[in-house]
Amino acid sequence: MLIVECKNLKKSFPILRGYMRDEAGRVMAVDDVSLNIERGHIVGLVGESGSGKTTLGKIILGVLKPDSGEIRLGTDKLQVIFQDPYNSLDPRMKIRDILSEGLILKRDTEEKRERVEEMLDLVKLPRFALKKYPHQFSGGERQRIAIARALLTRPEMIVCDEPVSSLDVTIQLQILKLLKDIKKRFNITYLFISHDLRVVRYMCDRVAVMKDGKIIEVGGAADIYSNPSHPYTKQLLASILRI
Ligand SMILES: Nc1ncnc2c1ncn2[C@@H]1O[C@H](COP(=O)(O)OP(=O)(O)OP(=O)(O)O)[C@@H](O)[C@H]1O
Ligand SMILES: [Mg+2]
Repeated sequence: MLIVECKNLKKSFPILRGYMRDEAGRVMAVDDVSLNIERGHIVGLVGESGSGKTTLGKIILGVLKPDSGEIRLGTDKLQVIFQDPYNSLDPRMKIRDILSEGLILKRDTEEKRERVEEMLDLVKLPRFALKKYPHQFSGGERQRIAIARALLTRPEMIVCDEPVSSLDVTIQLQILKLLKDIKKRFNITYLFISHDLRVVRYMCDRVAVMKDGKIIEVGGAADIYSNPSHPYTKQLLASILRI
């Protein structure tokens, strides 16, 4: 069953930095993208900086309206986890308040408290974390808090936009494991945006490769890695093998 169905999506922006990609003076951030996502899958979206990954993620989240094309969602329970856990958590708020905010519509404070604590356990942070402020945590811990916040509303799908790119490698692996465990437990669908093909290989069932606003290749993760068909994908793979 499909949870996301995108057809011929286009989104352009006025050019910011003075370089041109098309004659009208606009950047085609998303250029005729069609992509389906099966419920319960982890779909990777890879591509170099500026290829349009975040723009596509925002269209799926409903934050951006496409200029044209169609998008059909099988859920309205969507959440997002961003790359930068430093800017995504309000520095003036205690963790308890940051998390409770997600449950603002819930009246019952006891139920709220329980749900917040349950999420904290899930992301393996101690209870005393609730009394602290974001700056008192490491980057990895902050990302756990951001994950807990995303999970509070029991989403059916999460757009993870470079969720581990700001973390060092050992912490990356911990967070990726956590995201995988959570996915298994709640059968959440992820759109997993990353420029790091190793991260995507570890996480994803399927992979879509983006370049200049277009999806140039999509397929099973194993297939794409063992047998990339597009020269650009080959190039991307070659560049990780060199590292
Ligand atoms: N709000 C905006 N206003 C103007 N241009 C934008 C806006 N958002 C994105 N763009 C442009 O659209 C293109 C795609 O940007 P996008 O952020 O989707 O890329 P990305 O693949 O997520 O890159 P990165 O890996 O660096 O996060 C870029 O050329 C970018 O400059
Ligand atoms: Mg981005």
